[in-house]
Amino acid sequence: MEIVIADDATRCGSILANLITDAIEAGAATLGLATGSSPLLAYQELARRHREEGLSFAGLQAFLLDEYVGLPPTHRQSYARVIRTEFVDHVDLDPGRVYSPDGMADDITAAATAYDAHIAAAGPVDVQILGIGANGHIGFNEPTSSLRSRTRVKTLTEQTRRDNARFFDSIDEVPQHVITQGLGTICDARHLALIATGPHKAAAIAAAAEGPLSASCPASVLQLHPHVTVIVDAAAAGQLKNSEFYRYVHDHKPDPQKY
Ligand code: F6R
Repeated sequence: MEIVIADDATRCGSILANLITDAIEAGAATLGLATGSSPLLAYQELARRHREEGLSFAGLQAFLLDEYVGLPPTHRQSYARVIRTEFVDHVDLDPGRVYSPDGMADDITAAATAYDAHIAAAGPVDVQILGIGANGHIGFNEPTSSLRSRTRVKTLTEQTRRDNARFFDSIDEVPQHVITQGLGTICDARHLALIATGPHKAAAIAAAAEGPLSASCPASVLQLHPHVTVIVDAAAAGQLKNSEFYRYVHDHKPDPQKY
Protein backbone atom coordinates (compact mmCIF):
# COMPACT_ATOMS: atom_id res chain seq x y z
CA MET A 1 0.00 0.00 0.00
CA GLU A 2 1.40 3.34 -0.99
CA ILE A 3 0.28 6.14 1.30
CA VAL A 4 0.61 9.64 -0.08
CA ILE A 5 0.11 12.53 2.31
CA ALA A 6 -0.53 15.89 0.70
CA ASP A 7 -1.01 19.33 2.18
CA ASP A 8 -4.68 19.82 1.52
CA ALA A 9 -7.79 18.52 -0.22
CA THR A 10 -7.09 20.34 -3.47
CA ARG A 11 -3.66 18.74 -3.75
CA CYS A 12 -5.19 15.33 -2.96
CA GLY A 13 -7.68 15.86 -5.78
CA SER A 14 -4.96 16.67 -8.27
CA ILE A 15 -2.88 13.65 -7.18
CA LEU A 16 -5.89 11.39 -7.79
CA ALA A 17 -6.50 13.13 -11.13
CA ASN A 18 -2.83 12.45 -12.05
CA LEU A 19 -3.26 8.79 -11.21
CA ILE A 20 -6.39 8.50 -13.39
CA THR A 21 -4.79 10.47 -16.23
CA ASP A 22 -1.73 8.22 -16.17
CA ALA A 23 -3.95 5.12 -16.21
CA ILE A 24 -5.91 6.39 -19.22
CA GLU A 25 -2.72 7.28 -21.05
CA ALA A 26 -1.44 3.77 -20.29
CA GLY A 27 -4.55 2.26 -21.93
CA ALA A 28 -7.04 1.79 -19.08
CA ALA A 29 -10.44 0.77 -20.47
CA THR A 30 -12.57 0.62 -17.33
CA LEU A 31 -12.88 3.05 -14.44
CA GLY A 32 -14.55 2.38 -11.11
CA LEU A 33 -16.30 5.51 -9.86
CA ALA A 34 -17.22 6.46 -6.29
CA THR A 35 -19.76 9.08 -5.31
CA GLY A 36 -19.76 11.17 -2.12
CA SER A 37 -17.68 14.28 -1.43
CA SER A 38 -14.19 12.79 -1.39
CA PRO A 39 -13.51 12.41 -5.15
CA LEU A 40 -15.28 15.63 -6.22
CA LEU A 41 -12.15 17.78 -6.53
CA ALA A 42 -10.51 15.04 -8.60
CA TYR A 43 -13.57 14.87 -10.88
CA GLN A 44 -13.45 18.66 -11.28
CA GLU A 45 -9.75 18.53 -12.12
CA LEU A 46 -10.32 15.73 -14.66
CA ALA A 47 -13.13 17.76 -16.24
CA ARG A 48 -10.78 20.76 -16.45
CA ARG A 49 -8.11 18.63 -18.13
CA HIS A 50 -10.75 17.38 -20.58
CA ARG A 51 -11.85 20.96 -21.37
CA GLU A 52 -8.47 22.63 -21.47
CA GLU A 53 -5.95 19.90 -22.21
CA GLY A 54 -7.86 17.41 -24.35
CA LEU A 55 -7.85 14.54 -21.87
CA SER A 56 -10.34 12.10 -23.38
CA PHE A 57 -12.52 9.45 -21.78
CA ALA A 58 -13.99 8.33 -25.11
CA GLY A 59 -13.98 4.57 -25.43
CA LEU A 60 -13.86 4.00 -21.66
CA GLN A 61 -16.59 2.40 -19.62
CA ALA A 62 -17.26 2.95 -15.94
CA PHE A 63 -18.91 1.09 -13.08
CA LEU A 64 -20.30 2.77 -9.97
CA LEU A 65 -19.66 1.27 -6.58
CA ASP A 66 -23.15 1.44 -5.22
CA GLU A 67 -26.70 2.76 -5.42
CA TYR A 68 -29.54 3.47 -3.01
CA VAL A 69 -32.46 1.06 -3.10
CA GLY A 70 -35.71 2.82 -3.99
CA LEU A 71 -34.31 5.97 -5.62
CA PRO A 72 -34.96 6.17 -9.37
CA PRO A 73 -32.02 7.35 -11.51
CA THR A 74 -33.89 10.65 -11.95
CA HIS A 75 -33.80 11.37 -8.18
CA ARG A 76 -31.23 14.09 -7.47
CA GLN A 77 -29.53 11.90 -4.84
CA SER A 78 -29.48 8.64 -6.78
CA TYR A 79 -25.83 7.85 -7.33
CA ALA A 80 -26.47 7.29 -11.04
CA ARG A 81 -27.63 10.89 -11.29
CA VAL A 82 -24.99 12.32 -8.93
CA ILE A 83 -22.16 10.83 -10.97
CA ARG A 84 -23.75 12.19 -14.14
CA THR A 85 -24.06 15.73 -12.84
CA GLU A 86 -20.74 15.78 -10.98
CA PHE A 87 -18.59 14.07 -13.60
CA VAL A 88 -19.99 12.38 -16.71
CA ASP A 89 -21.77 15.51 -18.02
CA HIS A 90 -18.44 17.36 -17.99
CA VAL A 91 -16.31 14.88 -19.95
CA ASP A 92 -16.67 12.76 -23.09
CA LEU A 93 -17.40 9.51 -21.27
CA ASP A 94 -20.35 7.83 -23.04
CA PRO A 95 -23.26 7.97 -20.52
CA GLY A 96 -24.54 4.72 -22.04
CA ARG A 97 -21.38 3.01 -20.83
CA VAL A 98 -21.58 4.22 -17.23
CA TYR A 99 -23.17 1.44 -15.27
CA SER A 100 -24.71 1.35 -11.80
CA PRO A 101 -26.68 -1.19 -9.79
CA ASP A 102 -30.44 -1.09 -10.40
CA GLY A 103 -31.84 0.12 -7.10
CA MET A 104 -35.38 0.08 -8.54
CA ALA A 105 -35.42 -3.57 -9.64
CA ASP A 106 -38.38 -5.70 -8.56
CA ASP A 107 -35.89 -8.36 -7.51
CA ILE A 108 -33.11 -6.42 -5.79
CA THR A 109 -31.10 -9.51 -4.90
CA ALA A 110 -31.07 -10.67 -8.52
CA ALA A 111 -30.15 -7.14 -9.66
CA ALA A 112 -27.13 -7.17 -7.33
CA THR A 113 -25.97 -10.55 -8.59
CA ALA A 114 -26.45 -9.44 -12.19
CA TYR A 115 -24.37 -6.32 -11.57
CA ASP A 116 -21.54 -8.39 -10.10
CA ALA A 117 -21.65 -10.69 -13.14
CA HIS A 118 -21.63 -7.68 -15.49
CA ILE A 119 -18.45 -6.30 -13.86
CA ALA A 120 -16.81 -9.73 -14.00
CA ALA A 121 -17.66 -10.15 -17.68
CA ALA A 122 -16.81 -6.61 -18.83
CA GLY A 123 -13.97 -5.90 -16.43
CA PRO A 124 -11.64 -5.96 -14.73
CA VAL A 125 -11.84 -2.41 -13.48
CA ASP A 126 -8.44 -0.84 -14.16
CA VAL A 127 -8.62 1.85 -11.48
CA GLN A 128 -11.23 1.83 -8.74
CA ILE A 129 -11.72 5.17 -6.97
CA LEU A 130 -12.74 4.78 -3.33
CA GLY A 131 -13.81 7.03 -0.49
CA ILE A 132 -14.01 5.77 3.08
CA GLY A 133 -16.73 6.13 5.69
CA ALA A 134 -15.90 7.38 9.18
CA ASN A 135 -16.69 3.82 10.29
CA GLY A 136 -14.24 2.29 7.80
CA HIS A 137 -16.71 1.29 5.11
CA ILE A 138 -15.74 1.25 1.44
CA GLY A 139 -18.56 1.11 -1.04
CA PHE A 140 -21.36 0.54 1.44
CA ASN A 141 -19.70 -2.45 3.04
CA GLU A 142 -20.45 -1.56 6.62
CA PRO A 143 -18.49 -3.06 9.55
CA THR A 144 -18.94 -6.86 9.82
CA SER A 145 -19.12 -7.18 6.02
CA SER A 146 -17.41 -10.31 4.75
CA LEU A 147 -13.98 -9.46 3.41
CA ARG A 148 -14.80 -11.65 0.39
CA SER A 149 -18.33 -10.37 -0.17
CA ARG A 150 -19.78 -9.88 -3.63
CA THR A 151 -22.29 -7.28 -4.81
CA ARG A 152 -25.41 -7.49 -2.66
CA VAL A 153 -28.03 -5.58 -0.71
CA LYS A 154 -26.88 -3.99 2.55
CA THR A 155 -28.61 -2.07 5.31
CA LEU A 156 -26.96 1.25 6.10
CA THR A 157 -25.90 1.90 9.67
CA GLU A 158 -27.44 4.84 11.49
CA GLN A 159 -24.04 6.55 11.45
CA THR A 160 -23.83 6.32 7.65
CA ARG A 161 -27.41 7.55 7.26
CA ARG A 162 -26.59 10.48 9.56
CA ASP A 163 -23.37 11.18 7.61
CA ASN A 164 -25.28 11.17 4.31
CA ALA A 165 -28.26 13.17 5.60
CA ARG A 166 -26.41 16.33 4.51
CA PHE A 167 -27.26 15.47 0.90
CA PHE A 168 -31.01 15.12 1.64
CA ASP A 169 -33.61 17.45 3.19
CA SER A 170 -33.79 15.25 6.31
CA ILE A 171 -32.39 11.98 7.62
CA ASP A 172 -35.80 10.36 7.12
CA GLU A 173 -35.28 10.68 3.38
CA VAL A 174 -31.99 8.73 3.42
CA PRO A 175 -32.81 5.22 2.18
CA GLN A 176 -32.22 2.34 4.58
CA HIS A 177 -30.84 -0.02 1.94
CA VAL A 178 -28.30 0.03 -0.85
CA ILE A 179 -26.85 -2.28 -3.45
CA THR A 180 -23.08 -2.21 -3.07
CA GLN A 181 -20.17 -3.92 -4.73
CA GLY A 182 -18.79 -6.36 -2.20
CA LEU A 183 -15.28 -6.19 -0.79
CA GLY A 184 -14.29 -9.14 -2.96
CA THR A 185 -15.77 -7.41 -6.01
CA ILE A 186 -13.89 -4.19 -5.25
CA CYS A 187 -10.66 -6.12 -4.78
CA ASP A 188 -10.99 -7.60 -8.29
CA ALA A 189 -9.97 -4.17 -9.63
CA ARG A 190 -6.36 -3.89 -10.73
CA HIS A 191 -5.57 -0.71 -8.83
CA LEU A 192 -7.46 0.74 -5.87
CA ALA A 193 -7.14 4.48 -5.27
CA LEU A 194 -8.64 5.66 -1.98
CA ILE A 195 -8.97 9.35 -1.24
CA ALA A 196 -9.84 10.81 2.18
CA THR A 197 -9.60 14.29 3.63
CA GLY A 198 -10.45 15.90 6.95
CA PRO A 199 -9.99 14.94 10.60
CA HIS A 200 -13.24 12.92 10.73
CA LYS A 201 -11.55 10.34 8.48
CA ALA A 202 -8.34 10.03 10.52
CA ALA A 203 -9.39 7.08 12.72
CA ALA A 204 -10.75 5.11 9.75
CA ILE A 205 -7.57 5.71 7.72
CA ALA A 206 -5.35 4.57 10.59
CA ALA A 207 -7.48 1.45 11.11
CA ALA A 208 -7.51 0.65 7.39
CA ALA A 209 -3.78 1.11 6.85
CA GLU A 210 -2.24 0.09 10.15
CA GLY A 211 -4.90 -1.76 12.11
CA PRO A 212 -5.57 -5.50 12.09
CA LEU A 213 -7.21 -7.10 9.07
CA SER A 214 -10.76 -7.18 10.35
CA ALA A 215 -14.37 -6.99 9.24
CA SER A 216 -14.73 -4.33 11.96
CA CYS A 217 -12.87 -2.05 9.55
CA PRO A 218 -13.92 -3.20 6.07
CA ALA A 219 -11.30 -0.95 4.42
CA SER A 220 -8.57 -3.01 6.11
CA VAL A 221 -9.13 -5.50 3.25
CA LEU A 222 -6.99 -3.11 1.19
CA GLN A 223 -4.00 -4.59 3.04
CA LEU A 224 -4.51 -7.80 1.01
CA HIS A 225 -4.56 -6.08 -2.38
CA PRO A 226 -1.33 -5.91 -4.40
CA HIS A 227 -1.82 -2.38 -5.77
CA VAL A 228 -3.34 0.27 -3.53
CA THR A 229 -2.74 4.01 -3.39
CA VAL A 230 -4.16 5.90 -0.41
CA ILE A 231 -4.23 9.67 -0.88
CA VAL A 232 -4.87 11.69 2.28
CA ASP A 233 -4.47 15.22 3.48
CA ALA A 234 -2.57 16.01 6.68
CA ALA A 235 -5.79 15.95 8.75
CA ALA A 236 -6.89 12.51 7.53
CA ALA A 237 -3.32 11.27 8.10
CA GLY A 238 -3.42 12.59 11.68
CA GLN A 239 -3.65 9.21 13.44
CA LEU A 240 -1.16 7.27 11.29
CA LYS A 241 1.76 6.04 13.34
CA ASN A 242 4.25 4.61 10.84
CA SER A 243 4.83 8.01 9.33
CA GLU A 244 8.43 7.30 8.33
CA PHE A 245 7.12 4.91 5.65
CA TYR A 246 4.81 7.38 3.99
CA ARG A 247 5.36 9.97 1.33
CA TYR A 248 4.78 13.61 2.03
CA VAL A 249 4.40 15.32 -1.29
CA HIS A 250 3.53 18.61 -2.82
CA ASP A 251 2.81 17.02 -6.14
CA HIS A 252 2.92 13.41 -7.06
CA LYS A 253 3.24 11.11 -10.01
CA PRO A 254 2.61 7.55 -8.78
CA ASP A 255 5.86 5.61 -8.93
CA PRO A 256 5.19 2.09 -10.30
CA GLN A 257 8.26 0.74 -8.50
CA LYS A 258 6.94 1.79 -5.15
CA TYR A 259 3.65 -0.12 -4.75
C1 F6R B 1 -19.77 6.26 -2.31
C2 F6R B 1 -19.32 5.23 -1.37
C3 F6R B 1 -18.97 5.54 0.04
C4 F6R B 1 -18.28 6.88 0.23
C5 F6R B 1 -17.98 7.12 1.71
C6 F6R B 1 -17.33 8.46 1.94
O1 F6R B 1 -20.02 5.70 -3.58
O2 F6R B 1 -19.27 4.11 -1.75
O3 F6R B 1 -18.13 4.52 0.53
O4 F6R B 1 -17.09 6.90 -0.50
O5 F6R B 1 -19.18 7.06 2.43
O6 F6R B 1 -18.23 9.47 1.62
P1 F6R B 1 -17.73 10.99 1.51
O7 F6R B 1 -16.74 11.02 0.42
O8 F6R B 1 -18.97 11.77 1.16
O9 F6R B 1 -17.16 11.34 2.83
